[in-house]
Amino acid sequence: MGIRRRIVAGNWKMNLDRAGAVALAEAVASGATSSVGCNLILCPPSIYLSPVANALKISKGESPSGVGLGGQNLHDQPKGAFTGEIAPAMLIDIGCSSCIVGHSERRTLFGENDAIVNGKAKAALAAGLTPIICVGETLEEREQNRTAAVVTEQIKGSLEGFSSADLTGSIVAYEPVWAIGTGKVATPEQAQEVHALIRQQLANLTDEETANRVVIQYGGSVKPDNAGILAAQQDIDGALVGGASLKADDFLAIAKHFADAS
Ligand code: PGA
Repeated sequence: MGIRRRIVAGNWKMNLDRAGAVALAEAVASGATSSVGCNLILCPPSIYLSPVANALKISKGESPSGVGLGGQNLHDQPKGAFTGEIAPAMLIDIGCSSCIVGHSERRTLFGENDAIVNGKAKAALAAGLTPIICVGETLEEREQNRTAAVVTEQIKGSLEGFSSADLTGSIVAYEPVWAIGTGKVATPEQAQEVHALIRQQLANLTDEETANRVVIQYGGSVKPDNAGILAAQQDIDGALVGGASLKADDFLAIAKHFADAS
């Protein structure tokens, strides 16, 4: 067992209906023992958090199957006149232990910049949630050889003011935008290179020991047939899975690869 846990999260995005969400959660929970050694998190649409929490039998923050629940987004304020938004404490109340923050779809479609992502991540931490903080370059930025600069800036901006405890209480997800939902997975070398760069940035923000404890997930077209080689990379500690997380068998197979690599 390495120094870091393995964590695979499923981002269901705006998919499924209530019955489908419950059935998928039940199937993942009943198969979760096959991936012992890898923590699992399910991130359903917010309107299905409650039925999925029930399907996972989450009570007082404890999940008997070991499968955790996460939000896909949250607001940075604790309460008030913010129509349509969800406060961090509400996610905790419903049984969440984590929340995706700054997914590239939030950044590009909903105008979230690094300062907003930073505020949301701090609000998540303050409420007791583990933020899954996403960074990643676009195809254009990669082709212009700007990947390192873009990811460095996103890490600095999104994690500004983080203490060591904040960092070890967070998950970072490297998701090259060009690999999300496209079927074009980054090569293991491309992913490892950026993961190592991110870990170096985390060390610069705090110290090496802290950086070595932070779970860094890869995301972008992770499937059962490429998860093994990604999991074998030194700095890839898990995956943030979109499309393949909508099928219990695929999601569990991905998790098993990370469990086997732990
Ligand atoms: P994908 O999505 O696995 O469908 O590429 C990943 C993500 O957006 O987190």
